[in-house]
Amino acid sequence: MLWRMTDDIAVRAEDLTKFYGTRRGIEALNLQVNAGEVLGFLGPNGAGKTTTIRLLLDFLRPTRGHATVLGLDPRRDKAALHRQIGYLPGELAFPGRERAADLLRFFARTRGGVSWQAVTELAERLELDLSRPIHTMSKGNKQKVGLVQAFMHAPALLVLDEPTSGLDPLMQQEFLTMVRQARDAGQTVFMSSHVLAEVQQVADRVAIVRDGRLVALERVESLGRRAVRHLEIHFEEPVDPAEFASLPGVSDVTVSGPVLRCTVDGRLSPLVRAAARHEVVDLLSTEPDLEETFLSYYYESEGAGHDAADA
Ligand SMILES: Nc1ncnc2c1ncn2[C@@H]1O[C@H](COP(=O)(O)OP(=O)(O)O)[C@@H](O)[C@H]1O
Ligand SMILES: [Mg+2]
Repeated sequence: MLWRMTDDIAVRAEDLTKFYGTRRGIEALNLQVNAGEVLGFLGPNGAGKTTTIRLLLDFLRPTRGHATVLGLDPRRDKAALHRQIGYLPGELAFPGRERAADLLRFFARTRGGVSWQAVTELAERLELDLSRPIHTMSKGNKQKVGLVQAFMHAPALLVLDEPTSGLDPLMQQEFLTMVRQARDAGQTVFMSSHVLAEVQQVADRVAIVRDGRLVALERVESLGRRAVRHLEIHFEEPVDPAEFASLPGVSDVTVSGPVLRCTVDGRLSPLVRAAARHEVVDLLSTEPDLEETFLSYYYESEGAGHDAADA
């Protein structure tokens, strides 16, 4: 069975759950990755990203629930599925002492239909010396070998577990360009990360996981819109912070003379209405910080956080 371009869902997870004994890896994950999109799978260490990816590839079996990948059952159609996927594991382990070129030639042969030129072009882009034995390579160079083997057969679906780890900033940018080009070529990309900035640069949508649960799934733009903002309002006369402190969504209010600074989570109108009761000289809003939005998801569900801070 072959992946058909007419299928519009590349990955479907339904109630996908994996417990390691009593320890939660991922629980009740419901998620669809549309064909042709880049989905960023974001979360801090231990959130369940690698567990999810291993479930999708049948390197782990779910405790409950089910995944469909490229229209296939990861378990039943494992071999067919893996031929159509480019997979970069989170922890790369290359046994043996062969040169990068030898290993990649082996991968190219087992997958079939891979031109050696595709391999050398990718190696050149990533500035990877294929003649080096892999066991002598730095973590970053090993990561590049992993990336070359994931991309070299132009798979319908790329599943990349923390793909930029170990890459220097220049190579991270090159990698992000590769992801954009893959998407432009109609490929689907599912990439995990704990770095918002990089996901923000390439992803169409972002799924945020924390403690084995999906806590948000949004288009990158809307994640930015509902983000936390820092505002600075310059009034003509000094104002009373008490007027602003209890407005919905407003926190961290400080006033020095006629300048009010605060943090706004969500809609701006309550603050703007309150401010308009005074003469406003200037109003500055800093760019919504996705990193902060990202963190606020975690703090919101942290529960005891405030008690601990007050104690
Ligand atoms: N083989 C395992 N045995 C027991 N617990 C595991 C195992 N692998 C992962 N876990 C636990 O499952 C949770 C999710 O881990 P993981 O999927 O590796 O997260 P991430 O990739 O987001 O860092 C963590 O609490 C982790 O300790
Ligand atoms: Mg991981």
